[in-house]
Order: sequence, then structure tokens, then C-alpha cells
Amino acid sequence: MNLLPSIRTLHSGDIPRILAIAHSVGWTQTSPDLERMLCYAPDGCFGLELPPEGESERGLVSTAMAFSHGPELGWIAMVLTDPAFRGQGLASRLMAHAIQHLRERGTHWIKLDASDLGRPIYERMGFAAENLMERRLRNAAPLPPPLFPSALRIEESDAIPPELDHRGFGADRGRLLRMLAGIEGARTAVLADGGGYAILRPNSRGVQLGPMVCQNAAAAETLLRWAIELSDGRTVQWDLIRENESARALADAHGFETHRLLHRMTLAGVDAPPPFAGVADLVYAIAGFDFG
Ligand SMILES: CC(C)(COP(=O)(O)OP(=O)(O)OC[C@H]1O[C@@H](n2cnc3c(N)ncnc32)[C@H](O)[C@@H]1OP(=O)(O)O)[C@@H](O)C(=O)NCCC(=O)NCCS
Repeated sequence: MNLLPSIRTLHSGDIPRILAIAHSVGWTQTSPDLERMLCYAPDGCFGLELPPEGESERGLVSTAMAFSHGPELGWIAMVLTDPAFRGQGLASRLMAHAIQHLRERGTHWIKLDASDLGRPIYERMGFAAENLMERRLRNAAPLPPPLFPSALRIEESDAIPPELDHRGFGADRGRLLRMLAGIEGARTAVLADGGGYAILRPNSRGVQLGPMVCQNAAAAETLLRWAIELSDGRTVQWDLIRENESARALADAHGFETHRLLHRMTLAGVDAPPPFAGVADLVYAIAGFDFG
């Protein structure tokens, strides 16, 4: 029997198995999270099947997903191998496939947020470390006094300023933002002066703040406090870029503790790509490790 696994695209029937592998390594994605990933990139989510030792029936054992945020940026996530099948090159094969998938689309830059286990694999494929990402968590606690008392007016609206988001993120992710803002229970706030926006959405821990893109720290604090008040005592998750010192200062001042660190890594998708245009100082919260 030929046991060399071939790569196939994932579908919604795979979700229980993907969640079982993800939860076995402490990841917290939910079934709706996986539905969204498969819906965002139906032809960019890949898996490999192998039978367990001594058995003949194959099952899904390794995954990788490639999300396209327009020509500027491709994002790779959900790189996972069942612990019983590691060290056989499965993740490396799927990564090579995901990179090829994005390159065929002419993607200028390919990025991901890497765990310590993933980092050496990505380095061998040419990815370079760019930044540290912090997952911050805040449990129920009273709101401290603001660092920047401000009278900025918040409007709950889906009218996210596209130019500001593009300037911060460095790519057009309008489709992703509409998807995240449309999650049941999600709330979106924009500042009336156009200086920032934030999305707050339910997740498996409580709620997740992000993305949040703002022109300055006072704008970010206004939206942060809106999010904390709305969280109503639930755990708030906030993934931020360490290089954005204002974001870290706000997180520290509002009682967010560092829970995980990941390495943001970058690979050119085409020869001599144009410089990546994102501005970390505008990005106060990323969408998350899964989407960038
Ligand atoms: C990171 C992870 C996906 C790697 O999966 P994997 O299928 O074991 O990856 P590979 O087999 O391609 O590579 C793992 C190691 O085996 C080595 N290897 C690859 N092919 C091999 C082979 N045929 N024989 C022996 N070793 C091999 C690789 O060189 C690599 O070595 P390293 O640990 O020194 O870097 C897996 O450990 C995992 O799921 N971890 C938890 C989730 C996670 O952190 N994911 C990454 C998020 S960014």
C-alpha cells in the first residue's frame, strides 16, 4: 500500500478532527472560528492524512492554512501536526504547499506568527523574524483611571475607515474586517473624528479585542475602555505587537498580563517585492494570530 500522503483541501467535515488536534496542544479555536477560516479561504486550507501505527484507515493528522489579504500580503496559520505524527516532515510539506499557493497568486509578502516549535521550520524555509507578538489577557477588575483623559466620541458603526486600516495593516483586508464585524455578538466602534476603530468579538475565553487601529494612544485608550466596559467582567484577550510601545503601556496600565509570546516572521513572496507598507505604531491590536 502507498502510504505517502497526498495534500488535500480541508472542508467543514474536518472541523472536529482539526479542533481535536488544536485543543491537544492548548489552542483555543472554536468550531465557528474554523468555519470562518474555511469560508475565508476555501482553496487555501490544506491537510494530510495518514493511518495510525498498525492501522490502515487514514485520518487527518496535519494542517496548514493560507489566507490571502490581497496582493500585498498572504498569511499562514493553523500549522499543526498531531503529536503522534511529528518529525516526519508533514508540517514542512504543508508549509511548502501553502507558500506555493500564495506565490501562485503573486503575493508580495508572506507572514505568520510562529511558536517556538514552528520557528525553526519556517527559518529553514527562508522566513526571517520581524517582531514579537504578545497575547495579553485581562480578567474582571475595576477600570483604572485613564492615562489620557479625552472627550473623543465613539460611534458604534460598521463604517471602519479603510484608509487608516490599510495604512496600519499594510494590506487591504476589508473582506476580513466585514467577516469579523459580522460575527454574532461582535461590536464595532469607530471614533467620530476618524482617528481609530476597534472590533470586540466573543471568543472561547470571553471576548477578543482586535483589530484596533488608531492614530494615537489617546484614541486607542478611548476604544480600549469601551471594550473593557462592554466585556462586562469576561476575560478580554488582546494580541498586540511588542514594537508598539504605546499599546504595551496601555495594556500594562489596564491590567492585561502577558500570556503567550509568538515571533512574527516574514518571507518575500515574489522577487524584489515592494517594501511592506504597514505601520506597527498604528496597529494597537492585531486581528489575531490566525489572521494577522
Ligand atoms: C510545529 C509543528 C507543526 C511541526 O510539525 P511536524 O510535522 O513535526 O514538522 P516537521 O516534521 O516538518 O518538522 C519537525 C522536525 O522534524 C524534522 N524532520 C522533517 N522531516 C523529517 C524526517 N523525514 N525525518 C526526521 N526528521 C524530520 C524537521 O527538520 C524538524 O526539525 P526541528 O525540530 O529541528 O526543526 C508541530 O510540532 C506542532 O503541531 N506543534 C504544536 C503547534 C505549533 O506550535 N504549531 C506551529 C504554529 S506557528
